[in-house]
Amino acid sequence: MKQNYSFQNFSQRMTPARGAVLWSISVMLTMLAGCSNLDRSRDWADSQVSGQVLAEQVCSTCHGVNGQSANSLFPKLAGQQKNYILGQLEAIKGRDRNSEHTRQFMWGPARYLSEKQMDELATYFSQQPPMKGVLPSTPIPQRGQVIFHQGVPEKGVKACASCHGDRAEGDDEIPRLAGQHTYYLNSRARIAMTKIVSNLSDDEIQAVSAYLESIGEGGAKPSTLVASKEKVVAVTTGSDFVVPRVFDADGDPKNCHYSVWTYGWYCGSFWSALGYHLKNQ
Ligand code: HEC
Ligand code: HEC
Repeated sequence: MKQNYSFQNFSQRMTPARGAVLWSISVMLTMLAGCSNLDRSRDWADSQVSGQVLAEQVCSTCHGVNGQSANSLFPKLAGQQKNYILGQLEAIKGRDRNSEHTRQFMWGPARYLSEKQMDELATYFSQQPPMKGVLPSTPIPQRGQVIFHQGVPEKGVKACASCHGDRAEGDDEIPRLAGQHTYYLNSRARIAMTKIVSNLSDDEIQAVSAYLESIGEGGAKPSTLVASKEKVVAVTTGSDFVVPRVFDADGDPKNCHYSVWTYGWYCGSFWSALGYHLKNQ
């Protein structure tokens, strides 16, 4: 059944093309103002400027104060993994990362960064309080939560959590996704995760992205997620872990079996390929 949620926030209404043009103009004006005032700290080609000053005076124009960007064209960098940021800055400077928005917005700022500045920038952003969660005004599709934690075994899609972490916090070169903008996650999923998401539909990717944005710092507790009609995934938060179980719309456990061999719940027809395997973490 097609899920019928609409995410009517600013970024969805503003087309990327329109957003891109507006931002190019306003950023160019800001940069020109910076140069004509002889404000060296805004000069991204000056290797004497420290990473922190660049972060506060150049990067924040788009990525927001402390890396909490407000516009979904621009990824949040707050609390992003240091080595992931470093890897991306190198890939952008080396022009290996070359999507339209990267070319348009990031090739300029990254062009003259020294190794030292990149390291300082990555340290600065990774140490900011993590990306804030944003709750959409409409229910978060349950499907997104299930795909993130369990993948879609029948379509060969791996659980995103197996690499990105149970709380989507990332690790080392694997990026934090919790709290990131839905629009940005949508646009990057097919580029950065080409093979892994190739069997997911656009609606499924949208569902995972909306779930991820909602669980950022201070955002949704998984237990507050709203039930969908066909299936309710009730989530109880223990002291450390999230334990998902599947119930039907009346709240009865849906033909689920606990396996003592794998310490997991199986739902749907017993052992069938269509059954879910819910890790009892
Ligand atoms: C003119 C606006 C703009 C400025 C200024 C800017 N960025 Fe970006 N940045 C972007 C956009 C847009 C993207 C996403 C590109 C895409 O969609 O692929 C991005 C992506 C990134 C990424 C990759 C994030 C991820 O999750 O993969 C990093 C890291 C980054 N920027 C760091 C910086 C740093 C450090 C600076 C300052 C030296 C900076 N940016 C300045 C617009 C900007
Ligand atoms: C095998 C490990 C692995 C799995 C499974 C995985 N990812 Fe990733 N993901 C990564 C790595 C590594 C990167 C960084 C890629 C790069 O350096 O360009 C990444 C990057 C991303 C990005 C780009 C983030 C940014 O800030 O630009 C998104 C979005 C993403 N993954 C979503 C997903 C989703 C959704 C799933 C599940 C359907 C998933 N990933 C499953 C390892 C994984």
